Amino acid sequence: MLTVENLQKSYQVGKSTYEVLKGVSLRVEKGEFVAVMGPSGSGKTTLLNCISCYIPADSGSIRLDRTELARLDENALAEIRNRKLGFVFQDFLLLDGLTVRQNILLPAIIGGRVSDLTEARADQLCEVFGISGIREKYPAEISGGEKQRTAVARALINHPLVILADEPTGNLDSKSTRAVIRSFEQAKEALEATIFMVTHDSYAASFCDRVIILRDGVVWKTLERAGTDREKFQDNLLDAIREMGRE
Ligand SMILES: Nc1ncnc2c1ncn2[C@@H]1O[C@H](COP(=O)(O)OP(=O)(O)OP(=O)(O)O)[C@@H](O)[C@H]1O
Ligand SMILES: [Mg+2]
Repeated sequence: MLTVENLQKSYQVGKSTYEVLKGVSLRVEKGEFVAVMGPSGSGKTTLLNCISCYIPADSGSIRLDRTELARLDENALAEIRNRKLGFVFQDFLLLDGLTVRQNILLPAIIGGRVSDLTEARADQLCEVFGISGIREKYPAEISGGEKQRTAVARALINHPLVILADEPTGNLDSKSTRAVIRSFEQAKEALEATIFMVTHDSYAASFCDRVIILRDGVVWKTLERAGTDREKFQDNLLDAIREMGRE
């Protein structure tokens, strides 16, 4: 599904070069819910932005299905971003002048693909995420958790291969965090979506199938949930984070 191999990325600031990703390799399988954790500055957002092709990597490979993203031109990339990837941003980025339903349809509108089918899918997504009752409301008239569920529904409208989310629960309380995670779980179960989520939050990560921990620009450790109950898995994550701090 998504394969990253030996990804390297540095930033040039004046005369100095900051190496951020120093050879990151990982795989995400279809239908998997994967979290990326790691200390501030470890390169999580950089990794996500490279996968999204918002910033070019220096070297290494990013494959989505069988397509090598680094070799695509701007037009092909825009097409991939619109059709194969879904994005959930930390501050949701809903458009104030559009209703919940219109916001959900936005990627289809941008891709020039609004049809009876996509309209029906928007309604289906509203049902899956329990926002049918508010679909004619505007963002200013709905709660934070509802905004977030709208953002997740929007990320799914074009049937993306992968949803990429950067701190989607970053500014939410634990009840809204649970609602966002629940919407990812629903996307996974009902729609076979694949989810790749960056998070600081061991509670949010403890719902995932697998957690990849980045440190100093490389994959330091991967933890598999593999049927462990959620509380135990969260303990395992916290242990790993403490161990990382000691090293
Ligand atoms: N555009 C940029 N130019 C120069 N340096 C950058 C740029 N963007 C990020 N960095 C640096 O790269 C490093 C990794 O940044 P990144 O945003 O990927 O970290 P992160 O793991 O997402 O951190 P956080 O948990 O705080 O969001 C940081 O040291 C940051 O200062
Ligand atoms: Mg970040």
